[in-house]
Amino acid sequence: MKKFIIALMSAGVLFTGVLQAEDAVNSNPGGIGGVESLRGASELETTRPADDFKRYPKDHTLESDYVYQPPLVPHSIRNYEVSLNANKCLACHSWKNAKEMNATKISVTHYVNREDQVLSDVSPRRYFCLQCHVPQADAKPLIENTFQRVDSLR
Ligand code: HEC
Ligand code: HEC
Repeated sequence: MKKFIIALMSAGVLFTGVLQAEDAVNSNPGGIGGVESLRGASELETTRPADDFKRYPKDHTLESDYVYQPPLVPHSIRNYEVSLNANKCLACHSWKNAKEMNATKISVTHYVNREDQVLSDVSPRRYFCLQCHVPQADAKPLIENTFQRVDSLR
């Protein structure tokens, strides 16, 4: 009899456990615990439509906001590979190719290494161009921004 009661009780505990787990699932849609990112709530099991591609306006160049800012890229960079094996950007912007491609030469700072030595080729710390240069896009800031251009560039 005692054994039977214990079995009955543990079955009860198991059952409430299952109920509680179900409750947790219902109050936590999509498994995100109600957490929202800046882009809103995206539940894990629903596929939301992809954002539209950003437009990269070519007809104007955005000006700098601070001194020594890496200039924004005024053209699309889709499919431009920058990897261990290839650097598409340098096909146009290296000192060797810039003239022929009618592109801006990378400046001499891109040849200087950490020890301030000027190298004969792009410095490894300037190899991954997109670390610093991003395409200019007509994207709205995700959060409010009160940044103001430095005086000398206004
Ligand atoms: C097919 C040649 C070509 C390739 C490849 C290319 N660019 Fe350019 N880039 C240009 C030209 C030409 C300009 C001059 C502005 C214009 O006409 O769009 C330019 C302008 C720029 C500028 C602005 C320079 C300034 O003085 O303001 C930056 C920054 C830049 N490119 C970065 C990149 C990066 C980073 C990549 C690789 C992801 C890249 N470019 C790949 C041709 C190229
Ligand atoms: C560590 C950040 C950084 C990386 C990486 C970097 N740049 Fe720059 N780039 C800058 C800054 C800062 C400037 C503006 C000041 C200067 O000329 O050094 C600049 C300037 C430029 C300019 C304009 C030069 C001029 O005379 O107006 C071009 C073009 C450019 N970069 C292309 C590239 C390309 C192509 C790569 C990759 C091979 C690259 N950059 C990698 C920071 C970077």
